[in-house]
Amino acid sequence: MRVSQQEQWSSKLGFILAAAGSAIGLGAIWKFPYIAGQNGGGAFFLIFILFTLLLGLPLLLAEFSIGRLTQENAVDSYRKIAPKAKWHWIGILGMIACFILLSFYSVIGGWIIIYLYKAITGQLNGLSSDQYTQVFGDTISDPIISLIVQLLFILMTIVVVARGVQKGIEQASKIMMPALFILFILLVIRSITLDGAMAGISFLLQPDFSKLTSKTILEAMGQSFFTLSVGVSVMVTYSSYLPKNQSLPRSAFSIVVMNLVIVLLAGLAIFPAVFALGLEPGAGPVLLFNVLPTVFSQLPLGMLFFIAFLILFLFAALTSAFSMLEIIVSVITKKDIKGRKKWSWIIGIAIFIFGIPSALSYGALGDVTLLGKTFFDLMDYTVSNILMPLGALLIAIFVPLKVKKSVLYEELKQGSGLKRGLFEAWYFLIRFVAPILIFVVMLDVLGVW
Ligand code: PHE
Repeated sequence: MRVSQQEQWSSKLGFILAAAGSAIGLGAIWKFPYIAGQNGGGAFFLIFILFTLLLGLPLLLAEFSIGRLTQENAVDSYRKIAPKAKWHWIGILGMIACFILLSFYSVIGGWIIIYLYKAITGQLNGLSSDQYTQVFGDTISDPIISLIVQLLFILMTIVVVARGVQKGIEQASKIMMPALFILFILLVIRSITLDGAMAGISFLLQPDFSKLTSKTILEAMGQSFFTLSVGVSVMVTYSSYLPKNQSLPRSAFSIVVMNLVIVLLAGLAIFPAVFALGLEPGAGPVLLFNVLPTVFSQLPLGMLFFIAFLILFLFAALTSAFSMLEIIVSVITKKDIKGRKKWSWIIGIAIFIFGIPSALSYGALGDVTLLGKTFFDLMDYTVSNILMPLGALLIAIFVPLKVKKSVLYEELKQGSGLKRGLFEAWYFLIRFVAPILIFVVMLDVLGVW
């Protein structure tokens, strides 16, 4: 369905699935376990949940209201609300963040493709846990292979965004998301019944606050924004395609709950196995990829399940990648759908080129560090811990400052019948709690006090 050349979701479910698709991705499944592993587990998890509810959810709702109120792209939406000011830089910042984000996100997307290829061609059959780690390490350090798979991942993203996300995402999400969920449950059951799994469960669920540092707190905040895709105006863009009769609060709430459930499942699938197999929880970005094949290999028909899992995982990563490219393309092409194809390709290829050093960070450029980080880690850090919190902070300042309270209430009430009390609670969180908390956490890391 096309409405005056602008995209619209054909159903309410379509929007929720696409927004949830943007949210649920590598952040919950790949990044959460490794960041939690590096930051001591339980305490990190608890703080992550708190940030998700106190900051992530209110911000998601704030982005939804801007998008649907203005029905404009990530930059023009701010311009429409505050025409003569510089606030539309929030959208530009979001575009830059998404550009960088996709440049390293696609590296991990490529790793999924590598495993998928190896699993389908039988190259993973009958290996031991150490051998999986070895095979994986060897493959991702090969520059040609890592670049090819990264490019493949970006090409898939380009093709879908060029056609218009709405057609691309809606249909497939309806089947893939529930399937991913079911496979995860299976995986968790296998993982927690391994010998020695208890240590992993306590690692994740028993907070040890002695491990908390300001860095952990910042990472937990960045992670909560990352998994919900907030702070970069992606959710502004997606909700601008939404008709007025849908409930924004209910959509936001269900996305947050789905995300938390997937994060919990990912944690319960990974950590028990990490401890049972004697692996290192702080292994970093390779963690998931080292652990998963072993867990699957201990299931009957393990390789088949592994292949199914990888396909769904790839899908989850792609639906997030679509949203990153979509926000950039939609700003450039405005409501004119003619330039969409051309710009999807131009931007997509530019992102690939920018992402080359990230892809090589696990091989040829492994020893090259800037500020003590590999290029990949530096890009990830810049997006997750600087650009996303900064974007979130600006949105939290912008919304109550520039949009009248009564207009916000009307927008959030439409299609939902939101109660005044809940609205006031949201308004309080976005106006006072969010800006102060984000500001304090960011300053704390800079060592200001
Ligand atoms: N939320 C996505 C994930 O968890 C990442 C993302 C961040 C996507 C920001 C779009 C914008 O994988």
